[in-house]
Amino acid sequence: MPRIAYVNGRYLDHRHAAVHVEDRGYQFADGVYEVINLYRNRLIDEDAHLDRLDRSLRELQMDWPMSRQAMKVIMRELVRQNRYATGLVYIQVTRGVAPRDHKFPEDVRSALVMTVRPMLEFPAEMIEDGVKIIVIDDMRWKRPDIKAIALLPNVMGKQMAAEEGAFEAWMRDADGFITEGTSSNAWIVTAAGTLITHPEGQDILRGITRQEIIALADELGIPFEERKFTADEASAAREVFMSNSSHFVTPVTRIGDVTIANGKPGSLSLALHERYLQFMESEPFAVP
Ligand code: PDD
Repeated sequence: MPRIAYVNGRYLDHRHAAVHVEDRGYQFADGVYEVINLYRNRLIDEDAHLDRLDRSLRELQMDWPMSRQAMKVIMRELVRQNRYATGLVYIQVTRGVAPRDHKFPEDVRSALVMTVRPMLEFPAEMIEDGVKIIVIDDMRWKRPDIKAIALLPNVMGKQMAAEEGAFEAWMRDADGFITEGTSSNAWIVTAAGTLITHPEGQDILRGITRQEIIALADELGIPFEERKFTADEASAAREVFMSNSSHFVTPVTRIGDVTIANGKPGSLSLALHERYLQFMESEPFAVP
């Protein structure tokens, strides 16, 4: 089965799928994206992702490349053609193809690329052992709430993490507070059992998984507070975890050289992970 990608109206063999050299995404990183988890034939939180895409596009005065409904149809067709039950759908919209000039081009249609890649279901050792993270400075622009494809600081951060044998890097703002991970939101559980994450605003991405976890925590009766925390507070926390659409709730058991609590994933993190899996199973099938 060849992998298929969608590129501006065409379903192409993934190996040869390409955009024009003057696509503004390629030249200026002038575009936005979404990553939607395909879990056992369900598109998890699809509408919330498309709402966030809509917001990112509006913030950058970019047009939808087509109607939302048409995009949903293409997504399903792509999933159907690729025949993966579990994987990640990647959607990228750029301002289109035009001769290189910083200001917005006139009369240009935004460009759409969509891919699906297969993914193993959540690796057991990540939930059994948790992962290590490191802490780095947040060097991003001042609008990381927009899901822009310009991800150089995130790329550098994730590479630094990999070089230190860590799974993720959490970023620290100029005042010493953790904002989020390079591709995930950041959470701690205090000694009193309160779940904490950075408040919404312009300095973090409003994760779709984050929103779901807040709702699930409420259901489970877990006290929750949106407030900033430092790396020191995280290192001394009862539990630490990260969240995103590809890895749901991932327990963190080491921050740099510091072991969190007893070095095992915490009970609230595990309960939220379990509850999140149930939530995914309750989503409607996207493809039969
Ligand atoms: N990243 N923060 C950042 C900086 C992210 O890039 C992501 C997602 C999140 C979590 O958002 P969500 O729960 O909606 O996936 C938070 C995706 C997975 C990526 O770039 O691959």
